[in-house]
Amino acid sequence: MAKTKRLANQPGNLLIRGGRIIDPAQGIDATGDLFISEGKIARLNTNHGGPLPENCRVIQARGMVVCPGFIDLHCHLRQPGFEEKETIATGTRAAARGGFTTVCCMPNTNPPVDKAAVVEYIKSVAAKEGTVRVLPVGCITAGRKGSELADFGELSASGVIAFSDDGSPVTDSNIMRSALEYSRDLSLPIIDHCEDIAFSQGGVMNEGSLANKLKLKGIPASAEESVVARDIRLARLVGGRLHIAHVSTAGSVKLIRSAKEEAISITAEATPHHLTLTEEKVIGYNTNAKVNPPLRTAEDVEALISGLKDGVLDAIATDHAPHTAKDKSCDFTAAAFGISGLETALGSLMRLVHLGKLDLVMLISKLTCEPAAILRRNDIGTLKPGAAADVVIFDPNKEWVVNPEEFISKGKNTPLAGCVLKGKVIVTSYSGEVVYKDDSVKLEPVSKQIGVKGG
Ligand code: DOR
Repeated sequence: MAKTKRLANQPGNLLIRGGRIIDPAQGIDATGDLFISEGKIARLNTNHGGPLPENCRVIQARGMVVCPGFIDLHCHLRQPGFEEKETIATGTRAAARGGFTTVCCMPNTNPPVDKAAVVEYIKSVAAKEGTVRVLPVGCITAGRKGSELADFGELSASGVIAFSDDGSPVTDSNIMRSALEYSRDLSLPIIDHCEDIAFSQGGVMNEGSLANKLKLKGIPASAEESVVARDIRLARLVGGRLHIAHVSTAGSVKLIRSAKEEAISITAEATPHHLTLTEEKVIGYNTNAKVNPPLRTAEDVEALISGLKDGVLDAIATDHAPHTAKDKSCDFTAAAFGISGLETALGSLMRLVHLGKLDLVMLISKLTCEPAAILRRNDIGTLKPGAAADVVIFDPNKEWVVNPEEFISKGKNTPLAGCVLKGKVIVTSYSGEVVYKDDSVKLEPVSKQIGVKGG
């Protein structure tokens, strides 16, 4: 079993040698060495081969990609309230296994994150039990009930990094307008779950001929697009920082593209599953492929990839939504929506790179500097000297079979069980500490070299 926990007594210095260093924030893509000291990036030497700094551990990374730790703008850690699905401890360890060193956790917990006390609770559990950086998202509406605004002032003072009622939309346009006004004044994003629930009501998969064939009620693309369109209009009216979550349709991509052309302040994310899978995954009534928004068509997938490439979609976010076996071991209609995605994100997305559909550097930018820019942070998502030593080393060509039983996440709900993915995280460093390493890596005592490959 691969290790993912804080490895005690780690010395402050680490040298990662001979990897392909990719840091889109600095326009770097070159073979070299990365030197980490006291939890920060100390030096990046792309003319590698110089003398070894003294008193440090060495990881040989030949053939590997070395890049900033991934930032997930959208995941569900489920604590407080749904600890049977996930906890901050298990979710952040799963994040480390997936190469993520920063995760923004959604507020659809119990109680929901609509009070400073809940934010404080999440921060204190994360400080004690978390493996990577946890940035809480606060609710837009009190209790996520949709009828009155949460206390944005209180939540922002307690340190939330964005607001969202994710899992549910904000149905009332007046409330969304006020939320965007607060977003403008506080300069924090609204992470917008776009869904016309009257229209999607009872739907369990993408609307279309496949849903008809399977005799399942569909969720029309326009249930998402009509709310994307409304909120673009509201953002044009009042400003604010609108961020569209889990974009799933070609029509939404088109709407966001034209909003950006109008210079409306808007950003957007897509998930690895919407970028790589289609509604056919539902065939056989596979509840692990039931997700909201639903997996769509091949045309939608192509439009999302184009949107990533031309900058309409700024970031890739997992929407990691762990559920228990019981939540999924039932009739398709009754099953919970959601996919456990932290541990398969890189492997899934690398398929797009191997197929020549997405450039590797661009993929990394969508997981690092682009989400960092949305968070307005320049100390993460980059390998600039002085930045936090959040680093992922991955083997772009390593093939592995997805076995949900090996997930660190409590959520084993993946539609990828048994699939072969090509691309695997080998080491994750969070603030200079090795928080995950693959079984292939031997952690040697200080002064010996840690061989990843070759060496
Ligand atoms: O599939 C989903 N699951 N979509 C959401 O918006 C919420 C999430 C959850 O919380 O399980």
